[in-house]
Amino acid sequence: MKMRAAVLEEFREPLVVQEVELDDPGPGEALVRLVACGICHTDLYTASGVDPSGYAPTVLGHEGAGVVEAVGEGVQGLAVGDHVVTLFSPQCGECVHCMDPRTNLCLAIREQQNRGFLPDGTTRLARGDERLRHFMGTSTFAEYTVMPEIALAKIDPEAPLDAACLFACGLSTGLGAAMNTAKVQPGTTCVVFGAGMVGLGAVAGCRLQGAERIICVDLADERLELARGQGATDTMIGGERIVERILEETDGFGADYTFEATGNVNVMRQAVESARMAWGLCTVAGVAGKGETLDVVPRFLITGRRIAGSSFGGVKGRDGVPALVDRFMAGEIDVEPFISHRLPLDDINHGFELLEAQAGIRSVIEFG
Ligand SMILES: NC(=O)c1ccc[n+]([C@@H]2O[C@H](COP(=O)([O-])OP(=O)(O)OC[C@H]3O[C@@H](n4cnc5c(N)ncnc54)[C@H](O)[C@@H]3O)[C@@H](O)[C@H]2O)c1
Ligand SMILES: [Zn+2]
Ligand SMILES: [Zn+2]
Repeated sequence: MKMRAAVLEEFREPLVVQEVELDDPGPGEALVRLVACGICHTDLYTASGVDPSGYAPTVLGHEGAGVVEAVGEGVQGLAVGDHVVTLFSPQCGECVHCMDPRTNLCLAIREQQNRGFLPDGTTRLARGDERLRHFMGTSTFAEYTVMPEIALAKIDPEAPLDAACLFACGLSTGLGAAMNTAKVQPGTTCVVFGAGMVGLGAVAGCRLQGAERIICVDLADERLELARGQGATDTMIGGERIVERILEETDGFGADYTFEATGNVNVMRQAVESARMAWGLCTVAGVAGKGETLDVVPRFLITGRRIAGSSFGGVKGRDGVPALVDRFMAGEIDVEPFISHRLPLDDINHGFELLEAQAGIRSVIEFG
């Protein structure tokens, strides 16, 4: 079929919205008509050419939500009409990691997905004779996508898809960092560094877990205001003296749980040093630049602090995303404040400009 898609032709150049071809779903795959898609830093990072593993041409986009229009041979868990969220982090349900409750890092399709191919090592996207690759296995800056069933989470059909798409990446990452990775305990003190999509999700996750105090740290007042809306009890402007300030606020000890959601390695260090001696757990969700390292004085660890990394919030996508969407539908997660702009696909480059200017939390593409 023919469809419109935003193609990254060359790094550092604007995306070009154009007609491309999409093949029918193969065995184990589904055709999804996209209804909404968030625009995320990872898309921008790849478009900028800074990501060493990036490739072009490709159709970017990975925060999609839509409706299943067709299924390939052998698809068991999805049917035409199902509402789905796309998963860059799949859940095959069978590999050694999927079988283990300690991780969400499914091993099934990593290698092909990282190279921009579907699990069988080919692509469904083309333009004339040229094959186009599937960015993050999702390629959701397009009217349709073909994806493996194991990378599609079937959600409540009543859930509005413009809100549901945010669960495809940053929001679930933040919620899950608090709920799955840190497993925040009721009555505790938490500090969240960064109040973008991931940090705000972490604030909401700490609240859902019953934290008593949630201190959110960012550089922008308007983002800290959003953090209050998600349940932050205290807010602080970040900077060099922030660790001292947090210690002062926590009887000199530090917080039971800290979360890093900025991608800045200096802030990661602050998050480690703000965690309480004896049992403080620092969860790192931000993605640092290639080659950057986290500098930690070992004494912080000997005295009982721990550091955990969290990819996609430890959420096993096909089980966990529908469960989070259910909590949103139950009124427990307020998603509307995160949707700052709604754009047609043709305005995708404007969406990138908004992201670079940190204008709002998420711009969402709405497909007509
Ligand atoms: N682990 C994962 O699976 C996963 C998934 C999505 C995104 N991420 C990463 O999470 C990070 C956050 O993503 P986002 O979409 O929320 O980004 P964002 O840019 O919207 O938010 C980052 C926030 O950090 C704040 N900040 C910057 N420097 C700071 C400082 N010194 N002190 C306090 N706050 C500071 C900024 O003001 C901003 O509000 C990024 O590194 C992103 O790549 C990770
Ligand atoms: Zn993302
Ligand atoms: Zn798996």
